[in-house]
Amino acid sequence: MKNTTAKIALGTWAWGDTSDGQVFGDQLTAADLQPVVDDAMAAGLNVWDTAYAYGAGESEKMLGTLLQKYPRDSYQLSTKFTPQMAGNGANEVADMLAGSLQRLGTDYIDIYWIHNPADVEKWTPGLIPLLQSGKVKRVGVSNHNLAQIKRADEILATAGFHVSAVQNHFSLLYRSSEEAGILDYCRDHDIDFFAYMVLEQGVLSGRYDVQHPLPAGSMRAQVYNQVLPQVEDLTAGLTKVGAKYDASAAEVATAYALAKGTTPIIGVTKPKYIASELKAASLTLTPADLTDLETLAAATHVDTKGSWEAPMV
Ligand SMILES: NC(=O)c1ccc[n+]([C@@H]2O[C@H](COP(=O)([O-])OP(=O)(O)OC[C@H]3O[C@@H](n4cnc5c(N)ncnc54)[C@H](OP(=O)(O)O)[C@@H]3O)[C@@H](O)[C@H]2O)c1
Repeated sequence: MKNTTAKIALGTWAWGDTSDGQVFGDQLTAADLQPVVDDAMAAGLNVWDTAYAYGAGESEKMLGTLLQKYPRDSYQLSTKFTPQMAGNGANEVADMLAGSLQRLGTDYIDIYWIHNPADVEKWTPGLIPLLQSGKVKRVGVSNHNLAQIKRADEILATAGFHVSAVQNHFSLLYRSSEEAGILDYCRDHDIDFFAYMVLEQGVLSGRYDVQHPLPAGSMRAQVYNQVLPQVEDLTAGLTKVGAKYDASAAEVATAYALAKGTTPIIGVTKPKYIASELKAASLTLTPADLTDLETLAAATHVDTKGSWEAPMV
């Protein structure tokens, strides 16, 4: 990835769980998360992904508070403009950014994303003045298909800028961006591809199965508990491959995304996961490992496309 040595970025969607909106069912406090931040920073995992949309600002506030004790140039912030949360004002992109800057306690964002392609023509130009002012260092597009990525790049190019990163769902169970040629396009055009939901919100960690389902009442339980029987052979395969390298299923699933040339964004909820992400970053899977895992993944016949996503092909 450009501008950083971290091979893995850290995601904070779960940090925005509120009592009235449980995506993960974790209800994490500052006391739970400060050790996650401290261990990550000590380990050199210093790229943090968030969004105003995560808990309507709660994730950004938590992240900003926990990072305050670190110099601003010791970490990178990645946050998002979410079209569906914009109003009707003249400067909606700048206004949403201003709120994020305030919650994160900073005056610039390293990577500012358009969260989805709700209206590429309408929203992409709003990034140009933010790049020109220096409040945004790089622009990325998320959940965009190949044509939309190219169109966003054309719009930015009118002012001499480019799409420098793409952030899409990519995991063993969801390879739509690979099938659509987006991974190849990014590699060929020096665009960083950030893979989100590499662990399918915990399902590919091997910690959850029919006897141990995802937390009751959470959105992830509603989506994934019904497919746990179908993914058992895959998680067993991840555990088996991991045994060769003294690694966990989660670490192998993350190493898979790294082997595909992506920068995984892993949602971190516990301090012990930091050492685990480092272990994942150190693994080199063989071509046979990749083929075996892809065969098991295909045999699940599970479609994990998020409700907010459109197919890439
Ligand atoms: N652009 C977009 O539209 C979009 C959409 C989705 C996500 N994202 C970004 O991508 C990030 C990652 O996605 P995600 O958080 O939804 O899902 P994820 O990374 O696939 O899964 C996160 C879950 O995996 C478990 N986990 C993490 N590290 C682990 C480890 N080393 N060993 C075992 N289990 C581990 C944790 O589960 P437990 O909490 O149960 O322990 C955690 O909550 C988000 O936080 C967000 O920043 C972006």
